[in-house]
Amino acid sequence: MTLKSAATAVRENAHAPYSNFKVGAAIRTASGTVYQGCNVENVAYPEGTCAEAGAIAAMCAAGEREIAEVYVIAECPAPVPPCGGCRQKIAEFAAGDVVVTLATTDGIEKSMTVADLLPGAFDASFIELGAGIFILCELLLGAIIDGNVGNGRVLGFFG
Ligand code: THU
Repeated sequence: MTLKSAATAVRENAHAPYSNFKVGAAIRTASGTVYQGCNVENVAYPEGTCAEAGAIAAMCAAGEREIAEVYVIAECPAPVPPCGGCRQKIAEFAAGDVVVTLATTDGIEKSMTVADLLPGAFDASFIELGAGIFILCELLLGAIIDGNVGNGRVLGFFG
C-alpha cells in the first residue's frame, strides 16, 4: 500500500459535515507499517480532530512511536498545509529530515521536511533544561533552609 493510496482511501471516511473539507493522512513508521487517519469534526467545533492527529493516534495505539514518512491529502487548489497543532504533533514523533508530502486530490504534490514545516520547534531539550534548573533551585533552597549554605557544604557539593 502506498502512502498516497492509504491517505486517499481514508479521506473518504472523514467526518466533515461542518466544513465539508475532507482530509486524509497516512504515516509510514520505521517498521514499515502504514497508519491512516481522517478528520473527525464535531458539532462542538473545537472538539474536532485533524486527519494527522488521527493517524498519529492509530500509530501510538499500535505501540509505535517513530514516523518515517507522512502524506496528507485534501481537495483544494494547492497542496494542503498541516495546521500548526499538527506540525507540532508530527514533530513529536518525527526527526527534522522526515519527508511530509502535501497533496491535492487533483494530483498536485509538494514535499517538505518536518524541519521546513516547523522551524525552531519546541522540543524535549527545552523542558530538560527547565527541569535541570528547577532541580538546582530546589537543592539550593533546601540547603539554605537547612542552614548548610555558608559552611562550605553547598559549594562543595557543586564542585
Ligand atoms: N484539517 C485537517 O484534518 N488537517 C489539516 O492539516 C488541516 C485541517 C481539517 C480540520 C477540519 O476538520 C477541516 O480540515 C477544516 O479546517
